[in-house]
Amino acid sequence: MSVRDQETGNELRIFSQTERNRWHPIERSIWARDSGVAQDDAALSIVRTLLDQPRWVEPRFLYDERGSQLFEKVCSLPEYYLTRTEDAILEKEAGRIIDVAPVECVVELGAGFSKKTARLLKEQARQRGRSTFAPIDVSLTALAGSRDAVEGQFPEIDFSGLYARYEEGISSIEKDIPTLFAFLGSSVGNFDQLSFARFFHLLGTSMGPNDFLLLGVDRIKEVEILEKAYSDSQGVTAEFILNIFTNINRIVGTDFDLDKMQYYSWYNPQWQQMEIYAIATSDQEIHLPSLGSAFVWKKGERILVEISRKFEPEQLQQQLQFFGFKPMEHFTDSKQWFSLLLFEKASQKVD
Ligand code: AVI
Repeated sequence: MSVRDQETGNELRIFSQTERNRWHPIERSIWARDSGVAQDDAALSIVRTLLDQPRWVEPRFLYDERGSQLFEKVCSLPEYYLTRTEDAILEKEAGRIIDVAPVECVVELGAGFSKKTARLLKEQARQRGRSTFAPIDVSLTALAGSRDAVEGQFPEIDFSGLYARYEEGISSIEKDIPTLFAFLGSSVGNFDQLSFARFFHLLGTSMGPNDFLLLGVDRIKEVEILEKAYSDSQGVTAEFILNIFTNINRIVGTDFDLDKMQYYSWYNPQWQQMEIYAIATSDQEIHLPSLGSAFVWKKGERILVEISRKFEPEQLQQQLQFFGFKPMEHFTDSKQWFSLLLFEKASQKVD
């Protein structure tokens, strides 16, 4: 039996047979998995990482409603070259990408408002006609925004938004439909080594034989350019990063005071990554109501909020072969600041 979107009548081919019944519509053309977006472990994770040494928090908590809006602002800052550089590469190369990746479906991971992906969808509609676009995101606002934009611009594209974390979405996609997975914006740079390996293992094993991966990555470059991109003159990045503590206060009932902390970021050349911290400007007691206890956040002590790794594209191509991705094409800009890497799923060897 085929599952259909009750409002649009679109057949939900994107889900694999075993997963199809686990998804239900929550809004027009937007689907959620029956278990819901896992919120339950959030509070536990925050308390655990805050008590760790050194203290840290998971960057996924940056993206509450306000955080998502602030990140949109970050993307258009003059210092934050990543978004416009990637978009310019996509504008130039979308035709070629869609030409060499003959797919019926585009799945975007951590899609946000899918502004850049419109370049791919435009070419997909032009070269292939009727197709599917399935963005995966934990922000319902972003998915609804993406849906409205795609429906307005591309009548040939059937929209099915997946309100889920990457892992849930990726492993539910039907392997038999040729699909281009797009993971843009250098979001992969926010994974630490363990999450990176987990993510590519899952993606590699979830992809079908006719699938492709388009990966957008920020490259290693002069330190000054990197550090400026994460320390803008208007202070938007600082506001975006420190907003995580307002969200954390909401989730776990802590009492972080944004007036008693400072934003700090630097490029760590040894680890080839930007490191982004909040630093306490005075000794302060932070209460953890769920434990009925508190800790002292000492003046000058840092809490790591995010890393943003920078890459050497050729090394990354080599590394991803381990996870079953075969490099196909490498697109970059004239300054070689950003790269779009296209991979196909390596065929399994049959001995
Ligand atoms: C979402 N991610 C790719 C951004 C980055 O550049 O690592 C997040 C960000 N943090 C500060 N500015 C932007």
